[in-house]
Amino acid sequence: MAPTTTTRLTVPSGSIATGAGRHALARAAEVLRSGGTVAFPTETVYGLGANALDAKAVEGIFLAKQRPSWDPLIVHVSDAAMLDTVVTGASEAARRLMAAFWPGPLTLLLPRQPAVPDAVTAGRPLVAVRMPVHPVARALITAAGVPVAAPSANRFGHTSPTTAQHVLDDLDGRIDLLLDGGPAWCGMESTVIEVADRKIVLYRPGAVPVEEIEAVAGPVILYLPPENQNVPTESLPSPGVGMRHYAPNASVVPIEVGNGAEIDQQAQWLRAVRELSATHANTGVMLPTGWPLPETFTGQRYEWGAWGNDRELAQRFFTGLRALDAMEVERILCAMPAASGLGAAIQDRLLKAARKP
Ligand code: TXA
Ligand code: MG
Repeated sequence: MAPTTTTRLTVPSGSIATGAGRHALARAAEVLRSGGTVAFPTETVYGLGANALDAKAVEGIFLAKQRPSWDPLIVHVSDAAMLDTVVTGASEAARRLMAAFWPGPLTLLLPRQPAVPDAVTAGRPLVAVRMPVHPVARALITAAGVPVAAPSANRFGHTSPTTAQHVLDDLDGRIDLLLDGGPAWCGMESTVIEVADRKIVLYRPGAVPVEEIEAVAGPVILYLPPENQNVPTESLPSPGVGMRHYAPNASVVPIEVGNGAEIDQQAQWLRAVRELSATHANTGVMLPTGWPLPETFTGQRYEWGAWGNDRELAQRFFTGLRALDAMEVERILCAMPAASGLGAAIQDRLLKAARKP
């Protein structure tokens, strides 16, 4: 694609109503309405947006990210009237979930309106929708007056961006405008579910823990992709489930530490790091606060956060992978949090980042 100049405008989430904030939002909304691409902060990660009802604009997202056309996009709406332009209806359970979690980081797969271009859903009958809660995202969609298709604002397959600088590192010169609203809050993407008749299927664990969804709408079934490597990713019910994804340049090695007391987990970690770093000098570690390293360790570390504080670990996960990449390590060792609450999202991202290319 032809290089373009990426305009960077700042809109602190606490001051969207100031003159500068309003000006930046109006300009970004105009870019969206005229078919351009705008990266913006959400409560999960930064998104790369375009008018979801304009097939040509949506194509701009795929080009900028180098994303294959078979991977569909999430449509972001700011109110119920806008939702109706995208979906034809929602089941009783879906409505209950919207009432409980919107605006917020829950994505629902719902029957699409014919006005939604094939490019958005990769030709599928269901469209992914969510109503973000981040004030900059909401104000932008409201000002644009159109639903906004937005994947995470990274190169396809790469680590998700949680700051404006991460977006530029991947997409500078490939998108029209970037709204810098400070770090994204959660650091993990939205939870993606399909709510069929009486059956809820989880395709991506995310910022809304599955336990909270179950408390509102009953049991959730975790979709597991087939083990058979011959099943093409694009034919899966939600293509993101089958991919290497969220990956830094370095290879990633998850370290299982069990679910015992933290002191026992530290001992498992220490053993694994000693063994794995002995043969690879150029190793980086995502180091939980206060955790030990072998005396012989000569690699790089990222001070990740307090083990057991999943909010902190989630918020700093992608940032840590990018920081270790910048230190040019060859591989990254990362302890694996338990799969409950937000930990399920961290574990999912870690395992997908660790897949072989
Ligand atoms: O938090 C988030 O969801 C962020 C922010 C920007 O909102 N967006 C995001 O989008 O993570 P993306 O494109 O990186 O991930 C969307 C996931 C992919 O795994 C994709 O396969 C799945 O949702 N998906 C999107 N539309 C779908 C559809 N119609 N049917 C099945 N899966 C879908
Ligand atoms: Mg993504």
